Amino acid sequence: MTQLHENIVGIDAAIFMHPTTWKASGHVDSFSDPMIDNKDSKKRYRVDHLIEAKAAELKGGGEAEAAEQLLAEMDRLLAADDYTGLRQLLDDQKIVCSVSKTANWTDIRQFNLMFDTQLGSVTEEANTIYLRPETAQGIFVNFLNVQKTARMKIPFGIAQTGKAFRNEIVARQFIFRMREFEQMEMQFFVRPGTELEWYEKWKQTRFDWHLSLGTPKEKLRFHNHVKLAHYANAAVDIEFEFPFGFKELEGIHSRTDYDLSRHQEFSGKKLTYFDTEINKHYVPYVVETSIGLDRMFLSILSNSYEEETITKEDGSTDQRVVLHISPKIAPVKLAIFPLTKKDGLPELAHDIYQKCAQQFRCFYEVKDAIGKRYRRQDAIGTPFCVTVDHQSLEDQTVTIRHRDSMEQQRIAINDLIQTVQAAMA
Ligand code: GAP
Repeated sequence: MTQLHENIVGIDAAIFMHPTTWKASGHVDSFSDPMIDNKDSKKRYRVDHLIEAKAAELKGGGEAEAAEQLLAEMDRLLAADDYTGLRQLLDDQKIVCSVSKTANWTDIRQFNLMFDTQLGSVTEEANTIYLRPETAQGIFVNFLNVQKTARMKIPFGIAQTGKAFRNEIVARQFIFRMREFEQMEMQFFVRPGTELEWYEKWKQTRFDWHLSLGTPKEKLRFHNHVKLAHYANAAVDIEFEFPFGFKELEGIHSRTDYDLSRHQEFSGKKLTYFDTEINKHYVPYVVETSIGLDRMFLSILSNSYEEETITKEDGSTDQRVVLHISPKIAPVKLAIFPLTKKDGLPELAHDIYQKCAQQFRCFYEVKDAIGKRYRRQDAIGTPFCVTVDHQSLEDQTVTIRHRDSMEQQRIAINDLIQTVQAAMA
């Protein structure tokens, strides 16, 4: 965000903010999920999760149409906050608790997802403060500080990566849903009336970004929100096909001027911008892109992990674990291996390491057979390995091995940096 866009700057806001921030943002009153308890097992569930699980079961049993209808009905009832209707849907679908196997449910209730704690000593007058459930509000309350100090002109964005906390009743599916997770958010401030145009632009830009990292198109799709959050006038998810089905990876929301207006109202401080092009003061509208870093990591991992069977030259087979991640995001770009521990090979390999490590992350290893060293790098997705051998001492060339094809070629040491950088572009 901050590197590829000249009009986006970064920030690192606080996790604890004044409690009124969360009153203003609407989270104290409306950041909740409809929940239901099973009276026999005492287990608590999110109602939409129960219905989604039933839809997945129907789909698995060949009843795809019924599954779609069920999800559509759930969306309609959620959008209308119709808890009686949702409760009826659970009964009609004979949805039972996975532990007690009974349908002995309580009524549906709303549970706030924010974690709170006390500021100050408990014996003194204590104030409830919240751990931020999204990083976005830290950007809104700092909007003018950033705009003024970085001399930004609308349209411009503020981006941030940071922890967010939600009291998810069911944290599951590995790192898909957690109580403590990392968000990467960007708030883009625009002139009122242009927000839906920017919303469409950001939808496409974010989709293309996922494609540029090697995620195949057929594993991504848009899902429009039926029930809009309290702050949005348009919202869409980019869904990724995880091993457990298509699920939300990223959200793009047109948040109107809701947040800035509310902070203005609750803080008594003006949050307006003077637009010199049209000679007008206004509260900007905001288009937000919001993605879970952990969820992104899971999508990349599940898309690129392969246990590959390799047929060797003699016809026998072998297995390797390989991570087919784009060189752009591979943690290590180049591994450098001296063939042996002697004859000056480690020295030359170290020289190469020192040169290349100025440009991108490298890894040096001398232990074990070359084959084993290649396998370890395959498993963490290192796109290139080079081997320094006796010929290298004579003609300043090395063997470069490509992770996916396992092909090897001889190249000049002087061409190494350019070869790796070309793959990262
Ligand atoms: N500021 C808007 C916002 O927070 P959201 O759809 O609630 O919107 C944005 O969250 C993204 O954060 C999601 O698309 C998801 O990737 C990630 N996310 C949300 N809750 C999460 C959780 N409990 N565990 C891991 N990631 C989560």
